[in-house]
Amino acid sequence: MGLRSMKLRTAMLAAMIMCVPAGAYAQDAAAGEKSFNKCRACHQVGETAKNTVGPIMNGLFGRKSGTVEGYNYSEANKNAALMWDEAVFADYIKDPKGKIPGTKMVFAGIKNEQEIKDLTAFLKQFGKDGKKAN
Ligand code: HEC
Repeated sequence: MGLRSMKLRTAMLAAMIMCVPAGAYAQDAAAGEKSFNKCRACHQVGETAKNTVGPIMNGLFGRKSGTVEGYNYSEANKNAALMWDEAVFADYIKDPKGKIPGTKMVFAGIKNEQEIKDLTAFLKQFGKDGKKAN
């Protein structure tokens, strides 16, 4: 293999590595936005979000369960003592009543792993203030 073709390969590889994660992420978040339509009857997210039937979803990842100010949680949710990270959220959204017995969230759950990943990518964009981080 000549030096020129080696350089070309290296350049192509670098381009691939740089493109893949950004592209995949955008797509996931877009798909996740659609999936979030299943939650919108009860949850809001974004800069103008307010607590409605359920608490706002801003800054979900990294916050403790049951800690949105001004939202009236059930005892079950308030005392669940979960830290919302990707794994805990995935577990919960598959079967909310299984993860937090006694929750007042009436939602059957999402079983599809890819859909959960997409939803996670979508929700992760929103910081505590409801602004998109990227
Ligand atoms: C029919 C209404 C409803 C739907 C639909 C719904 N939720 Fe909820 N959700 C609630 C309620 C009510 C609570 C508060 C539960 C409690 O206090 O027991 C809640 C709580 C939560 C919590 C815990 C929040 C915290 O601060 O501890 C998460 C996370 C959550 N919902 C995510 C979702 C997602 C994601 C969807 C869509 C896939 C969804 N919910 C769909 C009503 C709903």
